[in-house]
Amino acid sequence: MDNQEHLMEKIATLCKHRGFIFQSGELYGGLAGIYDYGPLGSLLKNNIKNLWIKKFVEDRDDMFLIDAAIVMGEQPLTASGHVGGFSDPLVVDIKTGIEYRVDHLLESNGINPEGMTIEDMGQALKKHSVLSPEGNTLGDIREFNLMLKTQLGSSSDSSATAYLRPETAQGIFLNYKNIMDSMHPKIPFGVAQIGKAYRNEITPRNFIFRIREFEQMEIEYFIHPQVWEAQFEYWREEILEWCDMIGIDMSKLQEIEVNSTDRAHYSKRTIDFEFNFPFGQKELYGLAYRTDYDLVKHATYSKTNLRYVDPSNGETYIPHIIEPSMGLDRTILAVLASAYREDEVDGNTRSYLALHPQVAPYKIAVSPLVKNKEELVQKAREVFGMLKSQFGNVAWDDNGNIGKRYRRQDEIGTPFCVVVDYETLEDGMVSIRDRNTTEQERVGIHELADYVSNKLIV
Ligand code: GAP
Repeated sequence: MDNQEHLMEKIATLCKHRGFIFQSGELYGGLAGIYDYGPLGSLLKNNIKNLWIKKFVEDRDDMFLIDAAIVMGEQPLTASGHVGGFSDPLVVDIKTGIEYRVDHLLESNGINPEGMTIEDMGQALKKHSVLSPEGNTLGDIREFNLMLKTQLGSSSDSSATAYLRPETAQGIFLNYKNIMDSMHPKIPFGVAQIGKAYRNEITPRNFIFRIREFEQMEIEYFIHPQVWEAQFEYWREEILEWCDMIGIDMSKLQEIEVNSTDRAHYSKRTIDFEFNFPFGQKELYGLAYRTDYDLVKHATYSKTNLRYVDPSNGETYIPHIIEPSMGLDRTILAVLASAYREDEVDGNTRSYLALHPQVAPYKIAVSPLVKNKEELVQKAREVFGMLKSQFGNVAWDDNGNIGKRYRRQDEIGTPFCVVVDYETLEDGMVSIRDRNTTEQERVGIHELADYVSNKLIV
């Protein structure tokens, strides 16, 4: 195992032991590709969602936030092309019956599947005599639809067939008319949404990187077709700004122009934002020019007029769409991988998360030096209450000795630890320790909130 694989294992172990992310249904052996977020993972996730909403919705005047249903009927997903074509090429190990994604098998055999059709992939498997990872012969390739199917109500007729949405985007397109009719926006404007999406991935892998239930943060930005190139460029920069803002290591981020054979069926141009994860450089986000593909399809299948009338000149057209699409779970993994550090403190190896303060689950931890001295506990509770009312997520930590508390808070990425000691009772000063440098300063309780505020603005 090389260092990078070790790093992935260390991050996954930290996530489990410190209450960030758990395998779902672990008591019963776990569900492959499904994860639960624990107390600290939920705080981290919420911080990221709130920052995303602030940047892309609240700080703008051209964006509407929606929360559409996860369950979708068959008709819209037929119109969007998902029922017919949202599939991956799959091949089975004829001895074990285990199924594999053909493109992944080719990659692991040093063959680049980029741009290959399903027929090309079949030929490449044969030409290079590719076997399964267990060394067995492979069967024929087949297309496997990735949508999770369900049934509404008790009826078994096909009109009751429904799906868990494979992308949040479709909920936005289906509400385009509702938003036009209720909010009367002028083009350009956007609709943003954060929510769950589901894909029956053949080989979920790499912790929360490729999973079957995940969350997306998506924007569909409706534009006049003539301005798509400028808008594409604008959203490209917005994505980069976002990554930097939440502490993603920008030196590990790369933009990849996706060639036409590898683009989704709806896209005329796509850039993938790839991140150098511990298991290799892989897609973090996508930016696509979806043209008017989706609205034209939904207008045709639903027999509804979805044309926009420009109030300034009477021009009518179906709006085109630029789509920045950001996976939330992959964001969390990139943020954790960017923040994980090891150094040496007092002769011991210390691991810590140098999380951006804005995303850290707790901004500050407050401790009494010892937990059995009533005066210290009372004073520390006062400081805790004061900081909590200002900063929200503040941890109370009186478990174990101070050294252990520091290690624990370092590992969960808390930027500051405040300790109330005997001197505090005399002089009203507390010690405040910086997570990254481990340096401590004495600060008066009355200046503490300002001191932390100034340090948190980075
Ligand atoms: N609406 C466009 C769309 O869904 P996509 O490239 O299929 O495009 C967008 O997905 C983003 O969703 C990806 O860049 C990734 O961040 C995230 N994503 C997709 N599949 C995922 C999976 N199985 N597990 C975790 N995240 C996933």
